[in-house]
Amino acid sequence: MFTPQDTPTSTPHVQRLPAARRQATMAELVAQGLERAAKSLPPMLFYDARGSELFEQICRLEAYYVTRTERALLAEHAYALTRRLEPAVTVAELGSGSSEKTDLVLEALLGTREHLRYVPVDISAAALEAAAERLVARFPRLEVRGLCAEYQDGVQHLARLDADQHLVLFLGSNIGNFEADEAAAFLNRLARAMRPQDRLLLGVDMVKDRAILERAYDDPEGVTAAFNLNMLAHLNHALGANFDLAAFRHEAFFNARASRVEMHLVSTKAQDVHVAALGRSFHFEEGESIHTENSHKYTPEALEGLIAAGGWRTLERVTDDAGAFSLCLLAPRPEVLA
Ligand code: AVI
Repeated sequence: MFTPQDTPTSTPHVQRLPAARRQATMAELVAQGLERAAKSLPPMLFYDARGSELFEQICRLEAYYVTRTERALLAEHAYALTRRLEPAVTVAELGSGSSEKTDLVLEALLGTREHLRYVPVDISAAALEAAAERLVARFPRLEVRGLCAEYQDGVQHLARLDADQHLVLFLGSNIGNFEADEAAAFLNRLARAMRPQDRLLLGVDMVKDRAILERAYDDPEGVTAAFNLNMLAHLNHALGANFDLAAFRHEAFFNARASRVEMHLVSTKAQDVHVAALGRSFHFEEGESIHTENSHKYTPEALEGLIAAGGWRTLERVTDDAGAFSLCLLAPRPEVLA
């Protein structure tokens, strides 16, 4: 059993956490999604090595305001948001990816601590290893204990870590990729795994002008289009499918009623696609789409509703001048704690 205090500090360490729940296989997910009348595929299928690389490129795009707005908020507020944390706080991050913006939080905390432990949780072992190497080189007093797991499984593991206090980071508006009710259920599971002194720093993208939203998910350079289409290349490679990438086009639009940006792959002609791993084909009509992602955008009121429904209360919320993005420091509500 992994005991984080067993080994010396400053050694990058990445543990692969066995999935607590049985994960549906990729082939099962594809069969389920493409059998539906309204075809859909889950966003986790974006992230093969190329998909992760394309996502990192998206984060650097001028059109994708999300990353730089959140980074600017962290640069301005990281000290103030973390100043009341206990000396022996452990920082955990769900869906940590490259951990690039996290430097700002770690730097703020290391300013007043001799030692700090950071537990990034991500599905990509490669991303965790690269981040761990980079971070221990940059911050010699940082102990990095990566966990390779879906962040939903990572939550239970965090609850078992020996720490005086947890600061859990859930940044990048990753919460926006959940359906609204699933988002509240996920936050609730996280709250129940916490103690009164634990804190969550949640990054949330806010509702804004349709043109800004649609440009962020359909950038002029075509990187998001390539990211969306890469899901089909991933399935071709992993499942022996024969998707013709030239016969699908990227579509992204703001669905105001559901308050979300939707991404789709639209078939440009009537066609059949064979998936060897499933031993079967799927028919597409011209104009028929595969729904690949929802990215929910919150109003301040909807965000407060989500936080309360998720079993948390807001200690502080900071936003940029345009109100494009929010960082919320949250504490678990006493009534959800056992
Ligand atoms: C990971 N997630 C928060 C991104 C988002 O904005 O929903 C994924 C993404 N999809 C297209 N661009 C970025």
